[in-house]
Amino acid sequence: MPERPRISIKQLLSSDSAQEVCAKGWVRSVRRGKEVSFIALNDGSCFASLQLVFAPELENYEQLSRLATGACLAVVGALIESPAAGQRWELQVSEAQILGNADDSYPLQKKRHSFEFLRSIAHLRPRSNAFGAVFRMRSELSFAVHRFFMDRGFLQVQTPIITANDCEGAGEMFRVTTLDPLQPPKKNAQVDWSQDFFGERTGLTVSGQLQGELFATAFTDVYTFGPTFRAENSNTSRHAAEFWMIEPEIAFADLAADCQLGEDFLRYMVTYALENCHEDLDFFNQRIEKGLLDKLETLARAEFIRISYTEAVERLQKSGQSFQFPVEWGCDLQSEHERYLTEQIFNGPVFVTDYPKQIKAFYMRMNDDRKTVAAMDLLVPRVGELIGGSQREERLDVLQARMAECGVPVEHLDWYLDIRRWGSCPHAGFGLGFERLLMYLTGMENIRDVIPFPRTPGHARF
Ligand code: 4AD
Ligand code: MG
Repeated sequence: MPERPRISIKQLLSSDSAQEVCAKGWVRSVRRGKEVSFIALNDGSCFASLQLVFAPELENYEQLSRLATGACLAVVGALIESPAAGQRWELQVSEAQILGNADDSYPLQKKRHSFEFLRSIAHLRPRSNAFGAVFRMRSELSFAVHRFFMDRGFLQVQTPIITANDCEGAGEMFRVTTLDPLQPPKKNAQVDWSQDFFGERTGLTVSGQLQGELFATAFTDVYTFGPTFRAENSNTSRHAAEFWMIEPEIAFADLAADCQLGEDFLRYMVTYALENCHEDLDFFNQRIEKGLLDKLETLARAEFIRISYTEAVERLQKSGQSFQFPVEWGCDLQSEHERYLTEQIFNGPVFVTDYPKQIKAFYMRMNDDRKTVAAMDLLVPRVGELIGGSQREERLDVLQARMAECGVPVEHLDWYLDIRRWGSCPHAGFGLGFERLLMYLTGMENIRDVIPFPRTPGHARF
């Protein structure tokens, strides 16, 4: 086989002149005709496959025309204008080499498989149409996250994955330890964590926020985008034990500026997807969520509603809707309430702000009423909570009082208090779950289907 540089199928399909080329990829389907045979070859560079045409003159024609779906192939041939409908180019193969064979037991046959089944073969599902589209979009949009912040002069900070602090205080940290689980060192009948690797109890981070705040008080506008871990045992379609979070933190900013940043960011991501991922979005629009494109185009222009928690509770109470959990001022909004607000009342994204202090984390800034804090959640149809954020408490004495009230151990957070001791300033930030954003932008309904290798209770195999 003549040595020739491989050209991606995406590049080939967007060529403007016919030429001799080499392509490599995996067989999606084989059709044996009377005179010639056809193979659809896909290399993941784009949604479409390249149509290969084989004539019987090829020395391995018999083998090629009987290839099974899933085989890996290298071909050389002439890229010519396709006489058939449905594609502009096809490749008239002059030589083909089978790099990796496959047989009928290949689990990804041409028929349509359920997402549940595809999850059970998470190692092979990237080769399917739907997951090809999902993971190409995930890659494009992850790049767009960095573009957005870099274009605005934000500093990217890599916050730690192993930490001694439970930022959200919800007790959902996975433990990291090198102690022998059967015989841990003990002191006063308790595990002696001072003998552990880091000399204290540590776990996987639930959020990079606290370290983000430190960097914001040095670099003004910062963000982190990394994996976060939560050992919450909730088996829902919107929770994963390992997920990626985008967390900007901005100095000299209040809650209104924080909401504005969240709105600008979401609008940018939607516009970026519409402009750069149309082929994959067309698939989602046709096969996954009818009307997705219209929804995204409307969102790119929509005004985001802002209402206070107190107003939200009143609207829900007046709605006449019967909820499984009653709505009462002071209670956390359940996902049924969140979805009713964003889907039924406002039919679009809505920021709910100023929640009661007792249902929010210790770091949120106390409002003058002393009952609510400067918090915000962005709720969107179908996905529910997409963003959670707040203005941070920058007043040392108020923060100390709040930590005592919430039972947050001060001895672990002396460094966090130090930025309030020297050069404290108003600042704010938020966290946006990247997988929830992808669910929103693709129409996929289960978080397990927008992350390459989902971690949920009982599942960490692949
Ligand atoms: O509302 P959360 O818990 O906020 C924080 O962690 C803040 N420290 C963020 C900050 O202000 N820097 O989480 C933020 C977002 C949620 O709105 C949701 O989109 C996502 O992270 N999220 C999850 N996504 C998938 N699986 C889970 N288990 C998630 N928990 C939160
Ligand atoms: Mg939240």
